[in-house]
Amino acid sequence: MKKIIYLTIVAALMFQPVLAFADDASIARGGKLYDKWFKVIGAEKPADTHPAWPASNTKKKGNATHRCKSCHGWDMMGKDGAYASGSYKTGIGGLKHLQGADNAKVIAAMKDATHGFAGKMDEQDFIDIADFVTKGQIDIDAVIERESKMANGDAANGSRYYGTVCAGCHAKDGMLPKDMPPLGKLANKNPWEIIQKVLNGQPDEKMPAMRAFDLQVSVDILAYLQTLPKE
Ligand code: HEC
Ligand code: HEC
Repeated sequence: MKKIIYLTIVAALMFQPVLAFADDASIARGGKLYDKWFKVIGAEKPADTHPAWPASNTKKKGNATHRCKSCHGWDMMGKDGAYASGSYKTGIGGLKHLQGADNAKVIAAMKDATHGFAGKMDEQDFIDIADFVTKGQIDIDAVIERESKMANGDAANGSRYYGTVCAGCHAKDGMLPKDMPPLGKLANKNPWEIIQKVLNGQPDEKMPAMRAFDLQVSVDILAYLQTLPKE
């Protein structure tokens, strides 16, 4: 009997899915690649304007037009979201419908003739971006109120996380590092960008990604950032 119990435990341990814990790291890295892949992998900044960037938009050119977020949006909604107007208006659709889709579909799109990313990143980079697109999306309009741009979070609770996790680098009032606009300004101007930075981290910086925690933690942090000084 003892032996059977022992063998059952050994078998259970042996068949544990070893990679089950790696998803958040892959999704967060994918989110940073979606933001600015060439910075994450240390590649040279693209100098040309991406061939899929529409001629109708003359406000942006060069490396900015190679970032996934520039065409598909921080809110993953492209022309149906925050980029329906403004300097990133392109008429290109979002990727929201791909939550739950197969990674293969996203990877094929990145390597197609429209995108031309084949050979520019390695396979793990493509997998991480696909994980972000198919498994990392949040119900953005439930988290950030579309019209008012306000986060649906508890700022008082967010201040506890901010004070312990973020303030060491960004200062209590969000005014550091000096070469960056105040966090209070960014969080009110473009909350869709800031929630992604909080969840996934900042490309090529040692900033933590909060993704493994409950989503509400990041939303509460965003709500607190919106109370910080804007200048
Ligand atoms: C210069 C603009 C541009 C950039 C940068 C860009 N895309 Fe796209 N993407 C498009 C266009 C145009 C389409 C075609 C469909 C449309 O208009 O939505 C598309 C379609 C897609 C599709 C297929 C959507 C579907 O429903 O089948 C996926 C997936 C995709 N892009 C992912 C990405 C990812 C990931 C990145 C970054 C690595 C990226 N794209 C960067 C312009 C861009
Ligand atoms: C180890 C230091 C470090 C920690 C901890 C850290 N950050 Fe950062 N963060 C940075 C650096 C460095 C940058 C990039 C600054 C720049 O672009 O000049 C950055 C950038 C950002 C940005 C993007 C600003 C932009 O211009 O787009 C946001 C938002 C942000 N951090 C929020 C947070 C929040 C919220 C936390 C806590 C959950 C946090 N950071 C924790 C170092 C850190």
